[in-house]
Amino acid sequence: MPKHIGILTSGGDCPGLNAAIRGIGKAAREIFHMDLVGFCDGFRGLVHDRTMALESEMLSGILTNGGTILGTSRDKPHEMEIGGEIRDMTGAVVETYQRNQLDALICIGGGGTQKNALRLKEAGLSVVTLPKTIDNDIARTDVSFGFDTALGIATEAIDRLHSTATSHKRIIVVETMGHRAGWLALGAGTAGGADVVLIPEIPYQLERVAEAIRDRARAGKRFSIVAVAEGAMSVDDAREVNEILAKKLAAKSRWEERKLSEQLDQFHERHLEHTVRLTQQLEKMTGQETRLTILGHLQRGGTPSAYDRMLATRLGTSCAELLNQGVSGVMIAVRGDGVEPVPLEEVAGKKKLVPPGHPWIQSARLVGTCFGD
Ligand code: F6P
Repeated sequence: MPKHIGILTSGGDCPGLNAAIRGIGKAAREIFHMDLVGFCDGFRGLVHDRTMALESEMLSGILTNGGTILGTSRDKPHEMEIGGEIRDMTGAVVETYQRNQLDALICIGGGGTQKNALRLKEAGLSVVTLPKTIDNDIARTDVSFGFDTALGIATEAIDRLHSTATSHKRIIVVETMGHRAGWLALGAGTAGGADVVLIPEIPYQLERVAEAIRDRARAGKRFSIVAVAEGAMSVDDAREVNEILAKKLAAKSRWEERKLSEQLDQFHERHLEHTVRLTQQLEKMTGQETRLTILGHLQRGGTPSAYDRMLATRLGTSCAELLNQGVSGVMIAVRGDGVEPVPLEEVAGKKKLVPPGHPWIQSARLVGTCFGD
């Protein structure tokens, strides 16, 4: 009897998802003789049993395409909005799994997807995940696909901003994505030769940033490029958020915990515009005309880099091989040139942030990059 395998993509899309679907699909169907079915729009499609056949013609011509042929969403099975109400739909997922006579479900996603997959494993399903995200913040894997492409796009943007910054003698602040991790800003900032790099892992002092820019002006440099991760924070903001987090950890009642979660949400809501404020403050403090470029979803769009196509293909084919051997309950992680199955319990709810002594940071400091600390 061939094995029946389901696949879904969940969370924010990224380049390489189609390459991974193709890698899984070709190896699973043609080499291991498995049956495949895709679920549309992440976990929502699984709840509503909305499927897409993944025959060989669907797997052709998609290697180089961005996005995902399956569609995606940020829905979670245990807290899903259904008809204006938040409901636990885990039972519906189990029914879909049984109705389709699945032997395993592959969930391709980022940090949130790993948590959802672990819950489904605990509900008795055979689940395997693949790590994808432009943020590169998934625990226990060297790298996730999507990151290299986003890094290339952000670096090219910084390259291009140099010529306009120098023509106008301006400061240009460029905001990258990355959620609460600084990998993208650090990588693109260093590769693109940004003068200042601000990341969440190193809270910054505004005066230090302004002084680094004034120093450049005194040395006759006509412009400055400031690469900022969307999650970067000043020392004061970091203190505020850490205090709320500490109180939340020590909360004595559900009510107190809920209030603190609300405070945290309000903080992050306010923080969304921090690069706008940073840009205005730097203009005031340096007297130099300053502009802001927010790269946003551009970093997630379009064709994957060669590296991401290779990585997604490698992860996809390894996934099919491991499923054929009966492995489940794991994320297929990247380890050096190979892959390694890691129990979902070791991945879910954890984040891979940039360690303060990481070689990328040391090297950036040695070429004179200011981190605002
Ligand atoms: O996780 C990928 C990511 O692009 C983050 O860098 C960013 O914070 C978030 O998704 C944006 O999410 P959305 O596409 O839902 O606005």
